[in-house]
Amino acid sequence: MRKKILAANWKMNLLRDEAIQLINDFNKEVELSSNEIEVVVFSPSLYISEISQLTDFKIGAQNFYFEKNGAFTGELSIPQVKSCGASQLLIGHSERRQIFGESDDLLKRKVDAAVESNTPFIFCCGEALETRDAERHIEFVVNQLHASLFHLDEKQILLGAIAYEPIWAIGTGRTASTEQAEEMHAAIRESLSYVYSPSIANQISILYGGSCNAKNATELFACPNVDGGLIGGASLQSETFNQIAKALI
Ligand code: 13P
Repeated sequence: MRKKILAANWKMNLLRDEAIQLINDFNKEVELSSNEIEVVVFSPSLYISEISQLTDFKIGAQNFYFEKNGAFTGELSIPQVKSCGASQLLIGHSERRQIFGESDDLLKRKVDAAVESNTPFIFCCGEALETRDAERHIEFVVNQLHASLFHLDEKQILLGAIAYEPIWAIGTGRTASTEQAEEMHAAIRESLSYVYSPSIANQISILYGGSCNAKNATELFACPNVDGGLIGGASLQSETFNQIAKALI
């Protein structure tokens, strides 16, 4: 059976002391047995070292470069973030694609680097509003997966989870309806099944992200193909994050 995953993406928020306070609050308030749900906190990389020592929750890096080391000023490699306590990677977030111009090809190389270093990762996909309005959303998202993820073999793909994050729902307060989320998640699972096999497709967790909060989490997580969430704004308060966690149990 596939894992339920609840991931917090803190993005470029929180000063150091605030991040420490928040992880301590998570420790106290987020009531989970780790067997039930895997919780991953994608903290700003600067704090990974300190935060990973304060919690049993998994800590992940929001970004990295695919090379292992060398003259890449300002970048961080997978061995570097792992040496500080990160055990998960986020790849292909729409903010990285749109604001920082990360291409399908670059994301493919990042996926390969994650696999080569045997590091679990969450691969993000999602369409803009114009694409949905043109009713090309499924084709668009499936193409994103083919472009950067589906070159992996059956064993390699099992290291990954997928997060569907419609761009129009990120940070907007406008979430996908359960029908919209389930339609896309089912389509993603169907393409996994087609490219790999039904058994592989059933083992890969598909998370929803985009204005997921304590109010809408229960109905979103009740969708048969939604296996968890990638939470932005609502992960910046432990009480709200805990309510979302409870909705997943
Ligand atoms: P929000 O939950 O703030 O909409 O952000 C979603 C997201 O981008 C998580 O990666």
